[in-house]
Amino acid sequence: MTAINLIGKGPLIVLGEHTVTLEDGSQVVKETRASYCRCGSSENFPFCDGRHKGL
Ligand code: FES
Repeated sequence: MTAINLIGKGPLIVLGEHTVTLEDGSQVVKETRASYCRCGSSENFPFCDGRHKGL
């Protein structure tokens, strides 16, 4: 089962195995958990790197 949690103005957290298709068409498989940036400040977009905490 895959679950999605929204953390305030921070990331979208996906729990469970899933595949992400990046803008260049490459795919990344996440086996347990991943945090996705919703604020646009991450230098590791689309993944959250914690920069939202300083906003
Ligand atoms: S949500 Fe964490 S860096 Fe954007």
